[in-house]
Amino acid sequence: MRPLVAHIDLAAITHNYALARQCAPGRQALAVVKADAYGHGLEPVVAALSDADGFAVACLEEAERVRRVASQARLLLLEGCFAVAEYQRAAELGVDVVLHSAEQAEGLLASVLPAPLRVWLKLDSGMHRLGFDEAALRHWHARLQAASQVSELNLISHFACADERGNSLTELQLERFLDVLDLPFAQRSLANSAAVLMIPAAHMDWLRPGIMLYGASPFAELSAGELGLRPAMSLRAEVIALREVQAGETVGYGGSWQATHDTRIATVSCGYADGYPRHAPTGTPVWLQGQRVPLAGRVSMDMLCVDVGVLPSVQLGSEVELWGQRLPVDEVARAAGTLGYELLTRVTARVPRRY
Ligand SMILES: Cc1ncc(COP(=O)(O)O)c(C=O)c1O
Repeated sequence: MRPLVAHIDLAAITHNYALARQCAPGRQALAVVKADAYGHGLEPVVAALSDADGFAVACLEEAERVRRVASQARLLLLEGCFAVAEYQRAAELGVDVVLHSAEQAEGLLASVLPAPLRVWLKLDSGMHRLGFDEAALRHWHARLQAASQVSELNLISHFACADERGNSLTELQLERFLDVLDLPFAQRSLANSAAVLMIPAAHMDWLRPGIMLYGASPFAELSAGELGLRPAMSLRAEVIALREVQAGETVGYGGSWQATHDTRIATVSCGYADGYPRHAPTGTPVWLQGQRVPLAGRVSMDMLCVDVGVLPSVQLGSEVELWGQRLPVDEVARAAGTLGYELLTRVTARVPRRY
């Protein structure tokens, strides 16, 4: 078997979920498990979170998968239905739906459903990605309040910059959210991980933690460890080849890395077809034998190379951690110019998850 495994620590996920709830006593939390639970495997994560107040997903296909594991759990479709025909299935599954556009709202009103739906009206409080402005939200609240397709009207919005502490847009978004609370909403939800951790005024009734459940930090300047989060995924490979290279020799495609002195190069069983970022530059940290060693040259499809000149005891089969318990995913993401979110969600299907 190819030595590359994503080890998933489900106890870390339940710890991180509990931490989210501790941040907001008395509130409830929808565990965001879209995108295959941020790459960790939707079914095992939902099963591990059997005590969670509920779950949030991006589409009906993901909702179907959650339902097979958690038949009774509260479940929210974050982007609502993509076609009118989907309302029927949403009602059968007992899923809460977001309404973010007039088209979605008209589609719901035109539907004949087996049971009414819990609806979350989405306010575009400033992100300008999805949602109604205040006037449209008030209009749809009035039209939907007595609709037979609706059992409950709730309010939802999403922050654009909650991960940047002190960003004025966050305050503006919170104000716009509070401005519509004169309308009768059953429940309200605003806080993603960053707001769960740092903005108590945004906690409302339902938290929506995503990235923090998986042990990565939403903040550039605060590490997951400092926040008390435990990493859930450790991506581990092995050294599959070793060679001495002399000063002046190059390594990998394009010969883009050149040895400045005689050294030793370890070839590792992980590449961009596994989800390791191809654009990670030379120097990106890789964990080996208790220390960080630098990526050397371009990442290949199935392999990458590291300079292990400082580690004479490295041998074939030595364990390598690309990210995880010993090397925070956020540190690798920073070196590669991306986010922990992207690295975690892009680990490909050919990498076995071991729980
Ligand atoms: C609407 C919505 N709510 C909550 C989340 C969770 O955000 P985070 O992973 O930053 O906690 C997301 C993630 O993209 C989202 O789109």
